[in-house]
Amino acid sequence: MATTITITGAGGQIGYALLFRIAAGDMLGPDEKVRLRLLEIPQGMGAAEGAALELQDGAFELLEHVEVTDDPAVAFDGANAALLVGARPRGPGMERADLLAANAGIFGPQGTAIGANAADDVRVVVVGNPANTNALIAASAADGVPAERFTALTRLDENRARAQLAQTLGAPVGGIRRVPIWGNHSATQFPDISHATIDGRPVVDALSTQVGDVRAWQEQTFIPRVAKRGAEIIQVRGSSSVASAANATIEHMRDWMLGTDDWTSAGVVSHGEYGVPEGLVCSFPVRSIDGAWQIVEGLELDEWARTRIDASVAELADERDAVRALGVL
Ligand code: NAD
Ligand code: LMR
Repeated sequence: MATTITITGAGGQIGYALLFRIAAGDMLGPDEKVRLRLLEIPQGMGAAEGAALELQDGAFELLEHVEVTDDPAVAFDGANAALLVGARPRGPGMERADLLAANAGIFGPQGTAIGANAADDVRVVVVGNPANTNALIAASAADGVPAERFTALTRLDENRARAQLAQTLGAPVGGIRRVPIWGNHSATQFPDISHATIDGRPVVDALSTQVGDVRAWQEQTFIPRVAKRGAEIIQVRGSSSVASAANATIEHMRDWMLGTDDWTSAGVVSHGEYGVPEGLVCSFPVRSIDGAWQIVEGLELDEWARTRIDASVAELADERDAVRALGVL
């Protein structure tokens, strides 16, 4: 048996960075065969078809089948995993929330098609922005699929945070763990270092010798750098992040399907954990156990952290209200 993976926006930039790595086994390992379904809109079909030709020319041994379509019902038929990438990306000067109206019309119908056609075990990660609220929209439209199967990508933010810590500490990134992202995949997100470790020791202790006042460094340097890294990439490259986003998407799905040995971050539906209103898709520290994300509970949050998380959660609630006002939810 192979795993059927649907990639929307497969003819776009992130799609191109994802397809070959998935076919090479980077997502599900060297023993799992994959069947790829590439969904595009008519204008993107040529690019997706070209990518499919190149997939064939890659002669990937794990790749059983590739299908390109502009019909969501065909694309999601029997899907075990769905990577919802296709959306309009933001340009210079835009916030991700500016994309709400443009993208709300995409994720509702795709959620409906997932509910009607995907496999019973389907797992969905939303990459297209605004990712958390798009995941909420898709989940609410997907009849019969538990909301827990719809997630938003915040692994890229976590990777950015770990990389910034590694650079500041002059240490390999692999030794840095437990840097959860809380809240929205937006400029309000809270990358939290209070529980982070480097080679098993608290990151905060190691940082104080490097930066002095760790709280001031977080406020003035670290948090803005991580939370606005997407905008920095757009400014420098002229378009939004691609390979790093594809890498994080692969890591998110791999960990979800195969399990984690420590915390990571994902936008998952809240059941009221840490006071986050039920139903919002919010980034939390999570573990993946037996194929399901579990929120790491019981963490101490001081008032400063609480205020930052509350601000990001308030933004998520505002986005939900804005799409409700559009009549989408
Ligand atoms: P892109 O413009 O290169 O590709 C998007 C593709 O989606 C296009 O080929 C387009 O034809 C297709 N598309 C549009 N509407 C579609 C629909 N209804 N069904 C199927 N396909 C559709 O953009 P990109 O650089 O690949 O970025 C894609 C999205 O990912 C953007 O929303 C971007 O903001 C987001 N993004 C998110 C993160 C994250 O961490 N969550 C990181 C980077 C980018
Ligand atoms: C990112 O974080 O790189 C993406 O969400 C793209 C963007 O609009 O910032």
